[in-house]
Amino acid sequence: MAAQRENTKIESRLFINGKFVESSDKKTFRLLSPSTREVVAEVSEASTQDVNTAVAAAKAAQPSWAALSPPERGAYLRKFATLMREHMQDLAYLEAISMGRPVRDYIDGFVGARLWEWFSEAGWAIHGSTSLNSPGMVGMTLLQPYGVAAGIIPWNAPVIFFSSKAAPALACGNAVIIKSSEKAPLTSAFLATLAEKAGFPPGIFNIIHGHGTTSGAALASHMDIRTLSFTGSTATGRSISIAAAKSNLKNLHLELGGKSPAVVFDDADLESAASDTQFGIGWNAGQICMANSRIYVQDTVADKFINIFKEKWGNVKIGNPLDNEVGLGPVADSLQFEKVNKYIELGKSSGAKVILGDKPVQRSQLNDGYYIPATIFGEIPEDSKTMKEEVFGPVVCINIFKTEEEVIQKANDTEYGLYAAIFTTNHSRALRVAKAIQAGTVGINCSAPTNLPDLPFGGYKSSGIGREGMIHSMRNYLEEKSIMTKL
Ligand code: NAI
Ligand code: MG
Repeated sequence: MAAQRENTKIESRLFINGKFVESSDKKTFRLLSPSTREVVAEVSEASTQDVNTAVAAAKAAQPSWAALSPPERGAYLRKFATLMREHMQDLAYLEAISMGRPVRDYIDGFVGARLWEWFSEAGWAIHGSTSLNSPGMVGMTLLQPYGVAAGIIPWNAPVIFFSSKAAPALACGNAVIIKSSEKAPLTSAFLATLAEKAGFPPGIFNIIHGHGTTSGAALASHMDIRTLSFTGSTATGRSISIAAAKSNLKNLHLELGGKSPAVVFDDADLESAASDTQFGIGWNAGQICMANSRIYVQDTVADKFINIFKEKWGNVKIGNPLDNEVGLGPVADSLQFEKVNKYIELGKSSGAKVILGDKPVQRSQLNDGYYIPATIFGEIPEDSKTMKEEVFGPVVCINIFKTEEEVIQKANDTEYGLYAAIFTTNHSRALRVAKAIQAGTVGINCSAPTNLPDLPFGGYKSSGIGREGMIHSMRNYLEEKSIMTKL
């Protein structure tokens, strides 16, 4: 990835009904670079009126979009994917300057483009079923688009979530409104310029920016939005559920937080377990829903594992995300910075051992950015907040266990259930533990962010409702109708 992209055009307006517009009340919000705290952009803040305008445009345009054949709709998606592939460096650059993602580890554009390519062909897979089980009757089901779909996305991997919501919604014949996160709107705004180039019919694909309490809440309670997919915090998932319940009971898909355990048994390949789990918490400075933020290592190999882990993470270079050698950038903004530091303080006062990261980063040395050192806690009480809650920063807790039964109980002692990792060379144990763990995704001898694009991804317990992933995403955007006919 190029370290400097001075030619990247920064778009920061709303894309509604096929046009770039400022917000109706001209309000903007300021986006700061987390690595320098300099102003990067003044971004249009969508008002409730802007949401209403986008929904009305979407509602008017959707029937003729749904009437197109799968390859006719797919051609637009294919074009969009091609444009994305041509602009990877712009996307990487914009994410680095808005939320601090190191360009070295930028994969989101590639993951996103692959989704657009897949969904460009997927319209053919929309099939209902038939039934001949009732004498004298024939039954069939139709799968039809909901109409207007909305996607509300977070800031940690915006292009992936933008794509995993917009592409299936459009492929299924819906019109869509995507709201970016106020912490990282620039890649979504850039993708809007690609949507314009791809030539989507006006109103079919709307992209707005702004805070959750205004435009996010307006989408969640809108009477004409019939399905909404959200990725973000569990707290906001609850607010959206309440807003949906109080308005039109829209269909919801929620992908929420995590506190994912990784379990390392004594027969595991320790080098690769340490490597994978270090990347699992280190990637994107730990700001990933599925990050393995709790690691349980078996007592007999604990010292050895912790030493390898500590050495690997200690060697990751911290600094400017535009520097090709940097693996640990700043956290997204001042709120994230305060929140993660609070959990570090809580970890220290809980009596945990600080294995790595005992000193804060000298901010003056790194342009006053929101840098947090790679932090490892050991022997942390299982009931401490740092061990229980989603920290969303470069902080990992490594505790020791003795037996399989004990570690299953500890791994499951959480309200979250998004992802879990198991490291062992004993195949039956791997599957036995995978079966016992309450999580929507389990990696055996691999950890987050490893994820197969065609498997269903989603949470057990408070980590969410519903699933996403290639064919599995399509159910979030299709309503099912039963038709029966008397012979
Ligand atoms: P958030 O969940 O509040 O924001 C995510 C998206 O929801 C943003 O687009 C936001 O504008 C929107 N939103 C916020 N309130 C809303 C509402 N009432 N109605 C509709 N939309 C709303 O997360 P935020 O504030 O960006 O980060 C706070 C914490 O949430 C993080 O520290 C982290 O712990 C957690 N988080 C977890 C994520 C995950 O993937 N598990 C992703 C992002 C944040
Ligand atoms: Mg928030």
